[in-house]
Amino acid sequence: MTTGSIGLFTPHPQRPRLGSIALASGAAWVLAGNDTGTMVTASPRLYPHMWSWDSAFIMVGLAQLDVDRACREMETLLSGQWEDGMIPHIVFSDEDGYFPGPDRWQTAVVCEHAPARPHTSGICQPPVHAIALRKIVDAGRRRSGADRRRAEALLRSTWPRLFAWQRWLATYRDPLGTGLIAVTHGWESGMDNSPRWDSPYAAVQPGDDLPPYVRQDLDKVCEADERPTDEEYDRYLWLIEEMRRVGYRADEVVRIGSFLVGDVFLTALFALSCDVLADLGEESGQDPEKIAQLRRWAARSRTAVLDTRDPETGLARDYDMRAHKWIAAPTIAGFAPLLSGGLAPQDQAALLATLEGPDWMGHPDLVAATPPTVSPSSPQFMPKQYWRGPQWPVISWLFSWAMRRNGLHDTAARIREETLRLVSDGTFAEYYHPLTGAPLGSRSQSWTAAVVLDWLYED
Ligand code: SER
Repeated sequence: MTTGSIGLFTPHPQRPRLGSIALASGAAWVLAGNDTGTMVTASPRLYPHMWSWDSAFIMVGLAQLDVDRACREMETLLSGQWEDGMIPHIVFSDEDGYFPGPDRWQTAVVCEHAPARPHTSGICQPPVHAIALRKIVDAGRRRSGADRRRAEALLRSTWPRLFAWQRWLATYRDPLGTGLIAVTHGWESGMDNSPRWDSPYAAVQPGDDLPPYVRQDLDKVCEADERPTDEEYDRYLWLIEEMRRVGYRADEVVRIGSFLVGDVFLTALFALSCDVLADLGEESGQDPEKIAQLRRWAARSRTAVLDTRDPETGLARDYDMRAHKWIAAPTIAGFAPLLSGGLAPQDQAALLATLEGPDWMGHPDLVAATPPTVSPSSPQFMPKQYWRGPQWPVISWLFSWAMRRNGLHDTAARIREETLRLVSDGTFAEYYHPLTGAPLGSRSQSWTAAVVLDWLYED
């Protein structure tokens, strides 16, 4: 079904290819166009608010353009931080046009930890904010005077807030005590409808008393099959209803929620962020006990990621804590150990070979050799559908950044080069069709523009 009013699909070979200068200008233009002054919305129509992990990547791009503006973005995000430390997955702007909005979440009404303003959602998203702080501080230090002082001041004011955020995850989301961090909703993973969540979602039974609702996302993409189904949405909304009814109390949500899954990708990002934040803490003279605590959390969660590996494939797996079983879906999350590190050399080489091999980046039908979200060799691969196959430039950036940090420079460079080729159509799409290179989902997606900018400015 074609529902869209967003641009025309232009087949891959005819689309213009922009050079670096035009691409960088286009990316800066997207960020400026989505900027409300204090928040760069995730996209102009589909997502007219601030999403937690989107905003971190947006800060990475802003840091290359304007350090002060990147600092303000962090401050806006943290103005929505809950008193218990959680950074909510949405900080709402005053725009309408997104469902579920503040009226549906009702966080300020039912939860004592949620701020009255700004309005926020009641779940979280992957902890990548320490990476953003790292990039802002580095950008500030490369410049002189005001930018450097601004970034250093942000580091001092923000570090304790990000520590509280990591502590919230370690306190409330490690129910097994192993360091494997759990999500209570697929949206918390950021990979909403990934096949990773199919079996845990199958066990979620929406109640007859699910309040009615109207989706607003479908008329903002070209084709409805680029988005999750109505059945999936019923489950998404039911989980929110369960949480709302217990006042979003973190321990209660974990106790009663129908969905509780150890998310290996989020866990790897947690470990990585703990280390990045600990480094920043050492550079800025923070409390040594807190720094040591971050190192302990990082080590424990890094081990937890390694312990999830499938003995046959070597791929990392999620763990369904309700059904007590491993989830072995052929998704990009299987490569989580390449984010958090700690692999023995031969295991790292094997995992890299799998990633670069014919079932993944090296699949012969791919337009660009950059990681798809589901293996094109798998029957579960759906090349147009959101987190079920398309390539997401932001995920490529994340792997590339973490790989550079872990010394995997060749693969990092290859992913960068191939992804830049993919996005050189200048649409800055949310995600791309791996077999045609067609842009999918939202256009002018801020995080796509932001990571492109970072790559183009990278030294
Ligand atoms: N990504 C979700 C959406 O599609 C919410 O986090 O609305």
